[in-house]
Amino acid sequence: MSLLFSPFQMGSLELPNRLVRSATAERMADADGRPLPLLKNLYAELAKGGVGLIITGHMYVHPSGKAHVEMTGVHSDDLLPDLAQLADAVHHENGRIIVQINHGGMNCSRETVDETFAPSAVDQPYVSRPAREITLKEIDDLIQAYANAARRVQEAGFDGVQIHAAHGYLINQFLSPLINHRTDEWGGEITKRMHFLREVSGAMRVQVGSDYPILIKLGMIDGIQGGLALEESLQVIAALNDMGIDGVELSGGISGDRNLNIGKGIRSESDEAYFLPLAQNAREATQLPIILVGGFRSRSVMERVLTDGHADLISLSRPLISEPDLPNRLRLGLQDKSRCLSSNNCWPKTVGEGIACKCPHEKVIDKAKV
Ligand SMILES: Cc1cc2nc3c(=O)[nH]c(=O)nc-3n(C[C@H](O)[C@H](O)[C@H](O)COP(=O)(O)O)c2cc1C
Ligand code: SF4
Repeated sequence: MSLLFSPFQMGSLELPNRLVRSATAERMADADGRPLPLLKNLYAELAKGGVGLIITGHMYVHPSGKAHVEMTGVHSDDLLPDLAQLADAVHHENGRIIVQINHGGMNCSRETVDETFAPSAVDQPYVSRPAREITLKEIDDLIQAYANAARRVQEAGFDGVQIHAAHGYLINQFLSPLINHRTDEWGGEITKRMHFLREVSGAMRVQVGSDYPILIKLGMIDGIQGGLALEESLQVIAALNDMGIDGVELSGGISGDRNLNIGKGIRSESDEAYFLPLAQNAREATQLPIILVGGFRSRSVMERVLTDGHADLISLSRPLISEPDLPNRLRLGLQDKSRCLSSNNCWPKTVGEGIACKCPHEKVIDKAKV
């Protein structure tokens, strides 16, 4: 029996199979963060392709946290009709979709944010420009911004919301001892460094009510000297249930060069599932459903991780860029692994290229299919 294609219940969210589209910044929005029709089409295509749950690319909760150009916004009620169209397009195909919400903190590009802030004033721990210390008023305002964003996600008709707490963005910055040197209630021991996350998730819960799915993508290791390490992130994992979180996706890495998070050169089954040790540790620390991302390419590896009980759901980013219908193809036995070459050429080099979710090796891959 295939576990991969068996249903799963996560909080109030009923999923038809165990495959998740991990958040993938699509760069398909206008200068105000309003999604372009391209994005709606992409989500409909993914839903048709059979993935059990779509997680949108990260959307900014406040203009001060817009990480890069062409990022979708969830920071204003004006965007509600456009956001609702995205949810509708997926539901029309009988799919499920949740929104990943984010604030870039110090990890925002020069093109989108003039002056960046971080929990502490830091210079070049992993991005190449200095950040000033966030003020207490800004902390309060941003907690509210996350809560309002969650409310908008719910009002727009999405099936849930995911907090981005990985890959070096603001919540990861609060958790990381490399960037958070505060000595007040927002910094210090890990219990204090997770205070911001606790306040954000609590304020979101108040807005969306007790049944609405709130997930988190948690960076468990920064992978940089002096950064967040497993011993501390396991304490964060253990606290998530009390924070009202319904499921946790495990990732890692804060470095701008993306090597740890978006691992290159996956050639064999032994290169796949490169964050598996994180899942094995997290299982001991929480009863929450675990979603594992990072380098899954073969159906056999996905099935094995589920059967061994290390994760409940398998999350894919690049394989669904190269083949949005991969879930159906795996289910029907048309192929047994993704064609993705793990080359990491799916991020546009220039504004307006609009190829973030289009694989430039498509022709090579199509040829390989024949
Ligand atoms: C083009 C691109 C954009 C991404 N955008 C996001 C994002 O918005 N939020 C996020 O949490 N991860 C993002 N990621 C990371 C993926 O979700 C995933 O964690 C990583 O690519 C490893 O999984 P994979 O081997 O299935 O690609 C992105 C990855 C790629 C390739
Ligand atoms: S460019 Fe294409 S083949 Fe390369 S990692 Fe991205 S999706 Fe995979």
